[in-house]
Amino acid sequence: MDEALTARMKALCDEGWEVWDRFALEVRQHEFHPFVAADYEAVLEALLPHRGPGRKFLEWGSATGVITIMADFLGFDAYGIELDPDLVTTARALAAKFDSGAQFASGSFLPAGYQFHPSDGDGRIGTIGSGPSGYLQIGHPLEDFDVVFTFPWGGEEAMMLDVMRCYGRPDTILLMNTVNSGVKVYQAGQVVATV
Ligand SMILES: C[S@@+](CC[C@H](N)C(=O)[O-])C[C@H]1O[C@@H](n2cnc3c(N)ncnc32)[C@H](O)[C@@H]1O
Repeated sequence: MDEALTARMKALCDEGWEVWDRFALEVRQHEFHPFVAADYEAVLEALLPHRGPGRKFLEWGSATGVITIMADFLGFDAYGIELDPDLVTTARALAAKFDSGAQFASGSFLPAGYQFHPSDGDGRIGTIGSGPSGYLQIGHPLEDFDVVFTFPWGGEEAMMLDVMRCYGRPDTILLMNTVNSGVKVYQAGQVVATV
C-alpha cells in the first residue's frame, strides 16, 4: 500500500474503533448483541494477498462496515450483508464519510431457502439470526464472489463452510476470523493458510 492508502486505512480503522466504543456503551452494555468487532489491522493483512482488478468481496455480517470499506479501498468491488438495519445505516454513513463505494444490504447472508443439515444432526446456528436473504438486494448470488470474509462465534464455522460448499465457487476464498488463532484462509472447504 502506498502512503496515501495507508493513511486512509488508518483513519478508517481509528473511526471504526470509535464507532465500536460507542456501540459497546450504547447497546452492548444494556443487552446481548452478536456484533463484536474483528481486529481490523489483522484482517487487512489477510485481505492484501487476495486483491486484484475486478475481484468481488463480500462480508457476511458486515456490522459497522469497516472491513467492507477496507476491501473497497483495496480495489475490490465490495459488498456487505448485515441483519441489523441500524448497523447497516451506520455502515452506509461510514462509507459516505470516507467516500467509499462499498455497498450494504440489510438482510441475511444465508441464501434464500438454505437449511443446515449437518451429519451429526445438530443444526444449531448459534448467534446467526434469520431474515430475508440479502443477495437480491446486492444483485449478486454468492457464486459471484471471489473473497468472502466472516467472523463467526464459536460453533458457527461448520454452517458457514456448508453455505460455501452449497452456494460458493470451489475457488472462492473464505477468510474466517478467529478470536485467538488469526484469520483462517479456506478454499474448497480446506484451510490453505492462517494469517
Ligand atoms: C461477530 S459480528 C462480526 C462483525 C464484523 N464482520 C467484524 O468482523 O467486525 C457478527 C455480525 O453478524 C451479524 N449477523 C448475524 N446473523 C446474521 C445473518 N443471518 N445475516 C447477516 N448478518 C448477520 C450480526 O448482527 C453481527 O453484526
